[in-house]
Amino acid sequence: VCKEWTQELKTMAGFQEPPIKKAKNDRSVDLNANTSQAPTQPSPSQAANGHLKARDSSASFQNLKHKNPHKRSPQKAKNPEHLRNLLSQRHALPIFPARARLLEEFKKHQTVIVIGETGSGKTTQIPQYIHEERLDRKGGICITQPRRVAAISIAKRVAEEMDTNLGGLVGYSVRFEEAVCPATKVKYVTDGMLLREAISDPLLSKYSWILLDEAHERTINTDVLFGIVKDAQKTRRSTPGQDPLRLLIMSATMDVDHFQPGRQHPIEMFYAKKQQEDYVMATMTTVFQIHREAPPRHDILLFLTGQEEIDSVTANLRQIAKDGSLAECPRLRVLPMYAALPAHQQLDVFRPTAEGERKVIVSTNIAETSITIPGIRFVIDCGRAKVRTYHPGSGFDALKVRKISQAQAWQRTGRAGREASGNCYRAYTRAEFDAMDVNPTPEILRSNLSSVMLQLLAMGIKNVVTFDFIDKPSAEHLEAAMVQLTFLGAVVIKSDCLELTEAGRKMAQFPLEPRYAKVILSGPEHGCTDEVLSIISMLSSESIFVNPAGKKEQAAIARRKFTSVEGDHITLLKVFRAFKAAKKNKMWCHENFLNFRNLMYATEVRKQLVQVCERCGVALTSCQQKTDSVRRCLATGLFTSVAELQLDGKYLTLDTKQEAALHPTSALFGGKPAYVLFTELVLTGKAYMHLNSIVDPQWLHDIAPEYFRKKHVKR
Ligand code: CDP
Ligand code: MG
Repeated sequence: VCKEWTQELKTMAGFQEPPIKKAKNDRSVDLNANTSQAPTQPSPSQAANGHLKARDSSASFQNLKHKNPHKRSPQKAKNPEHLRNLLSQRHALPIFPARARLLEEFKKHQTVIVIGETGSGKTTQIPQYIHEERLDRKGGICITQPRRVAAISIAKRVAEEMDTNLGGLVGYSVRFEEAVCPATKVKYVTDGMLLREAISDPLLSKYSWILLDEAHERTINTDVLFGIVKDAQKTRRSTPGQDPLRLLIMSATMDVDHFQPGRQHPIEMFYAKKQQEDYVMATMTTVFQIHREAPPRHDILLFLTGQEEIDSVTANLRQIAKDGSLAECPRLRVLPMYAALPAHQQLDVFRPTAEGERKVIVSTNIAETSITIPGIRFVIDCGRAKVRTYHPGSGFDALKVRKISQAQAWQRTGRAGREASGNCYRAYTRAEFDAMDVNPTPEILRSNLSSVMLQLLAMGIKNVVTFDFIDKPSAEHLEAAMVQLTFLGAVVIKSDCLELTEAGRKMAQFPLEPRYAKVILSGPEHGCTDEVLSIISMLSSESIFVNPAGKKEQAAIARRKFTSVEGDHITLLKVFRAFKAAKKNKMWCHENFLNFRNLMYATEVRKQLVQVCERCGVALTSCQQKTDSVRRCLATGLFTSVAELQLDGKYLTLDTKQEAALHPTSALFGGKPAYVLFTELVLTGKAYMHLNSIVDPQWLHDIAPEYFRKKHVKR
C-alpha cells in the first residue's frame, strides 16, 4: 500500500527536505491508461478508445503451453523451477489483469494506443499475448525500440520467458547485429532498423503487427515510422488480398503531476541544498554516503550524461571502494551502462546482486524508461543528459549536455520505487527543478534531418514537406537538410521537387549518416575504399582507446605508437591495421591500451559495410601508404565540418564562423594546421572539435568549389 510521501527524512550532507509528493492511496494493478490518446497525440480517430482499466482476470494462460517449434535443446533446458518462477512473475505484472481486455481491443481496432507506467509489462508481455492467441499466424510481430540495448536485452528476456532460444521464435535486429531466422515471429528492432526495412518494403508486408514502443520518447525514427506505418496500413486496407496491418502505439505515462498508482512504492526525495558546482563530484559523494548506511543489495542507480563521464566515474568509484574505511560495508560492484557498451557488458547490469553485495549502475538516460533494472532502491540524478542537438544555421550536430525536463526527472525518480520504497537524490536544488522544461523537446525538432529526408525520398515519399509528421520540423530545418543533401550530390531539385540521384539512392542503402555514406561512395575515385571503411567503422564504435585512472601516463605512451601527424582519422586507421596484423589478439589490445571489444565491434561493422558496398557495386580499392588520399576522400563527405586557423591562433568553423578548439585528446592538439576537418563538434562549455584531420584548401575547392568560394577559402 502506498503511503504518502514522507517528509521526515534522514538528512544527508548537502541535501535538503523534499517537497511533499502524494502518491495515490490505491495500489490497483491496472494498466493505468485512462486516456484514449498517447501524449504524443497520434490521430485519435483510428485509435481504439483505450480505456484499459478492465479488471478482467479471466484471461486464461493455457495457451502459454502451446507447442513451440523452437524449444530449447534438451541440454539447455531451463529448470522447471525457474520457468515457474518466470511465469509467476509474468502473472504478477500490472498488465496481466488487462490481458483479455487488451486482446479484445486489438481484435476490434487496427490501431490501439497503450499507455502504461514503465515496468508494467507492455514491451515484454503484449507481443507474447498476441502470439499466444495466434494472432500472428499470417505475419510476424515487430516491436520497435529507440535503443539497441533495450531491443537486445528485452528480446533475451522474452525468449527466456517463452522458453525458446534467442534468434528462433524470438529475435532481435539492431544496426550491425541481429539474431533472427525465417521462423522468427516476435522481433525486437531499433526504430532505425524498421525504417530501413520500410525503404525496400514500404508496405511492411512481413508483419501483421507493428508495435511502436516508447512513443513518448519521440525519437525522429519513431515519429517518421508513425507516418509510414499509417500509410502502409491505409494501402494494405485498400488492396484486396492484403492482410491488414495492425498498429500498436505504446507509451509510458509521462505525467509530471502524479506518479501512477499500481507498482509505485513511496520514494523519499532529496534535493541539493545549494547549487552544485561539480555535479559529478556531488553524485559520487552521495554514492558513498548511501553505501555507508544502506543494507546490502539495496542497489544504486546513478544517472550521468555520457560515456566518457561514466567510464571515469566507474573507475573512480571502483578505486574508492577499495578504501579500508569501507571494509565493513557490503562489496561494491560498479557497472557502467550506455548505448555504446558491448552487449554482454550491458547485460551484466541485469544480473541480480549477490548476497552481501551492492550494485551501483552508472548510466546514461538509457535507464530512464526503456529498460528496467531489478533491485534499485536508490536513484541519484545529476539532472542532465547528453542530447544531440542540431543547429540549422551551422549545419552540424552537437552533442550537448543539457538540463533534463521535469518529466524525465520524475521518470528517473520512479526507478527507485519499483520493488519497494526507495530514495531519490537530486543533485540540484528545488528551484533548479522548477526551472526545468516540463517535457523534453521531440528529437525531430532539434536534429539534422538529412538522414530522415534521404530515407523518406528513398521510400518514394516525394514531398517531404507535406509528410505526415507528428510535429512538423521548421522550414529552416527542412531547408538545411535539403541543402546538405544537395551538396552531397544525393538529390537534385527538379521543377520544385526533390529528386534522388543515383548516388543518393546508394547512400540511402548505408546504415550511416549521408555524409559518411558519401565518403564511402567516393572511395573508388580516391582509391581508398578499404581505408575509409576501416575508419568509418571505428567511428561507429566508441572509445577505441582505454584510459585507466592510475595509468594515464602509460596509456599516453602506448597511444603515441599509433599517433599520426596527419590527424586522428589516420591514427585510427593505424590502430585498425595494427590490430589486424596482431591477429585481433586480446592480450595485444590490453598491452596497447586499446579496447578489444570495441575493436571487434568495429570489425563487425566493417564486414556489414563491405556487404553494402558489394550490393551497391562500390569497388574495394586500397591506397596502402598513400594516406593523403584517405583524408581527401573523408573531405568529400565531411567538407562542411572544416575549421580555419585565424591570425590570433584560434579556429573558426567555416560554416558558421563559430570559435572551436582542438580537443586535448586529438592527435593534432598542440599543432596549428591551417585547415582542419573535424568529425564532431561537442559543446561542453567550450566548443571542441573531436577526431580531426589536416586538410588542404585546394582539395576543398576541388570537392565543393561553390561552397568554398563563398567561404573565401584561399587556395
Ligand atoms: O514496457 P514496460 O516498461 O511496460 O515493461 P516491460 O519492459 O515489459 O517490463 C516488465 C517487467 O519485466 C519489468 O518490471 C521487469 O521486472 C521485467 N524485465 C526483466 O526482468 N528483464 C528485462 N530485460 C526486461 C524486463
Ligand atoms: Mg517498455
